[in-house]
Amino acid sequence: MKKFNSNLTSPLIEDYILEKTFVEDKLVDEMHVYADSNEVPIIGPLVGKYLFQIAHITKAENIFEMGSGFGYSAYWFAKAFSGNGKVVCTDFSIEHKEAAENFFRKAGFENYLDFKSGNSLEILKESNEKYDIIFIDIDKEQYPDVIDLTYDKLNSNGLMIADNTLWYGRVIEEDALPSTKGIMEFNDMLSSDTRFITTIIPLRDGITLSYKKD
Ligand SMILES: C[S@@+](CC[C@H](N)C(=O)[O-])C[C@H]1O[C@@H](n2cnc3c(N)ncnc32)[C@H](O)[C@@H]1O
Repeated sequence: MKKFNSNLTSPLIEDYILEKTFVEDKLVDEMHVYADSNEVPIIGPLVGKYLFQIAHITKAENIFEMGSGFGYSAYWFAKAFSGNGKVVCTDFSIEHKEAAENFFRKAGFENYLDFKSGNSLEILKESNEKYDIIFIDIDKEQYPDVIDLTYDKLNSNGLMIADNTLWYGRVIEEDALPSTKGIMEFNDMLSSDTRFITTIIPLRDGITLSYKKD
């Protein structure tokens, strides 16, 4: 299997965590092969298991994803649904939509998926619904733009979860890449945003969990 180490944590520690929290799932294995051969970046199994657990703990039934790729992260969320549940996936790519729909069909999860192609920010803006969880994995320079929008579209006590918030350690190197600036600004904004309780977990490439207080 492809390694999903980020180099933030010792690869041996990441392997150890994976071994101790491993979930056997043939479709996940298939998705790893698809991600590898099509060079699509995915959250990987460590973060996947974490999302699965959070969806269970919160009993989330209405989830919105910004930057869904071919549905790998969405699949981990959907695994926590028990009968009811919907994950709204959004991505620019039509090809990703087709692949996600195929994987969800294979799992018998087609009723859980609503994949909309287009700009995630625009789709969320136009949505009339409120969500239990909003997951962010779009281009990193756009991260600062999602906070207020996400706040408005979350249910009370909902969660905003963002991937790559340590950006392979670049956040402390402060390089000039727009993506690094985006992540750093996002982290700065959240650090003083009293509407949320926020933690950054150094799992894989850093995952931010922000709880909407009211
Ligand atoms: C890292 S991949 C997502 C991986 C996915 N979350 C997973 O782990 O399975 C990022 C995706 O975001 C999409 N993307 C980036 N910015 C976007 C935007 N503003 N609107 C829609 N899609 C976007 C890209 O097309 C790409 O497929």
